[in-house]
Amino acid sequence: MNRALIGIAVLLFFSWVLLTAQTSKKAADANGHAWWQHAVFYEIYPRSFADSNNDGIGDLKGITSKLDYLKDLGVDAIWITPFFPSPQVDFGYDVSDYEAIDPMYGSLGDFDALTVAARQRGIRVILDLVVNHTSDQHKWFLDSKSSRTAQRRDWYIWRDGKAPGQPPNNWTANFGGSAWKFDPTTKQYYYHYFYPEQPDLNWRNPAVKQAMFDVTRWWYKRGVSGFRLDAVNTLFEDPNLKDNPVRPGKSAYGDPLQEHKYNTNLPEIHEALRQLRKVTDQYNGVLIGETWTADINELNAYYGKGNNELQLPMDFLFTNINKLSAAEFRKQIAAINSASGWPTFVISNHDIVRSYDRYGDGRHNDEIAKLMAGLYLTLRGTPILYYGEEIGMKTTPPARKEDVQDPKGRTGWPQDKGRDGERTPMQWDQSENAGFTRGKPWLPVPPTAKTHNVAVETNDAQSILSFYKKLLKLRHSNRELLEGNYLPINQNDQNVLSYLRVYQDQAVIVSLNMSGAPQKVNYELKKNGFASAKPLVTTGQSSSNGDFVTLDPYGVFIGQLVR
Ligand code: GLC
Ligand code: CA
Repeated sequence: MNRALIGIAVLLFFSWVLLTAQTSKKAADANGHAWWQHAVFYEIYPRSFADSNNDGIGDLKGITSKLDYLKDLGVDAIWITPFFPSPQVDFGYDVSDYEAIDPMYGSLGDFDALTVAARQRGIRVILDLVVNHTSDQHKWFLDSKSSRTAQRRDWYIWRDGKAPGQPPNNWTANFGGSAWKFDPTTKQYYYHYFYPEQPDLNWRNPAVKQAMFDVTRWWYKRGVSGFRLDAVNTLFEDPNLKDNPVRPGKSAYGDPLQEHKYNTNLPEIHEALRQLRKVTDQYNGVLIGETWTADINELNAYYGKGNNELQLPMDFLFTNINKLSAAEFRKQIAAINSASGWPTFVISNHDIVRSYDRYGDGRHNDEIAKLMAGLYLTLRGTPILYYGEEIGMKTTPPARKEDVQDPKGRTGWPQDKGRDGERTPMQWDQSENAGFTRGKPWLPVPPTAKTHNVAVETNDAQSILSFYKKLLKLRHSNRELLEGNYLPINQNDQNVLSYLRVYQDQAVIVSLNMSGAPQKVNYELKKNGFASAKPLVTTGQSSSNGDFVTLDPYGVFIGQLVR
């Protein structure tokens, strides 16, 4: 190994201390980190988590009943995707009232009971704030479309067509078709980045901004600890509505491909986020951003100068890595370590194929699931687990077009089968419907629920769930993993991804075999002043001996360097 590296680590550590001391004076714990830097987040898709009244749809009471499970797993904060009143065209991402609960999920009383029960267990609650658009049934939009002179006309984006029957420009919607819909009453088009039932709000109107900021205040007062900002990179559009550049090829929905140059990641977003951050800081909250960006520079902008925008803009660049590749992961981790804020990587969520399937080879999927946990939970930054990852849930898309629930899965069939596959019910036990409901679940329970469920895996020391628990326990107690610097080592190894997490004069080594063959790695520990690596958490037979770490196929070794 590069001998100088551990020396470098010490240097890096000191510059890092200076940096964090400057940036997080407020709301920081004894180590200089804010609460959200130490927390493990867990994303709950409420329709699919736990159904308390057996109507086939998960609900708030269901979540409350599973808080002990989450506590035991090692979760510090839950992000619940939208449960507000909604026509459910986009399963809650079409909100028709921001300050209420859809009766299918429960009541405000149930929500208050959930936050109280969560707080008792040291778990914070984060909500999903759909900032870019409302439902077309929201009272703001109903007013807006009622006449050209309506009080809220300018709360949405209305334009004349280019010519009769022609939308204002060539922008296509993310879920297919033109991004403009003609309204026969007022004879203008309104803009929607997503489904036509999700009209975009006009963020250039100060009243819109204030209304959304007030929504966050309303929920902070009810006890929430922050928000995940939905589709935040779509907030602003080019005021001149310039056509987007067209690219060769067609989307799954049959539209010509285009670069979303004039309707995503516009610079105006940053001023709005700085203002929202000021509100957030009054409540010691956290802002997580759904920030789809092309590269680290675009992502970096979302932290803001001096970290005055989003604390946790999600780094989606891992989701572009479609096969296990030590080199690719190394590259993306290095990229974010050059960014100006605290990392938060994404490997799975309710919109993308689960990491279990993205990296699984069909034979070693369970080992690979542990490998990904070994990576995800030992990186510097805040992890956001997606429900079911901890038990190895498999993406299970519908077999037939007529079974598809997510509308874009019907338009895009079979190329894009929609997002049902990653939203199937949580697998609790071996009973019918995996213990999710005693009714008919809104999406079928995958066949793998028989082997991959909480009950079975709790009793198996070698299960994916047991591995997650061990890792999360280590992550909460080990200073190097909580606070430490990230230092890549053995960077030319094509099979094994290796790094140190260094804190003060201590280091943890993480060794991840991304290949299907056993590996033996020489870390030259003695030359660097260490006697050995003492195992902390490992998989299978993976072990250490002096300078060497031996890894099973897809094996994980996490160890403490001892002098
Ligand atoms: C985000 C959500 C996705 C939703 C879209 C529109 O991308 O994660 O589920 O469909 O925004 O609100
Ligand atoms: Ca229910």
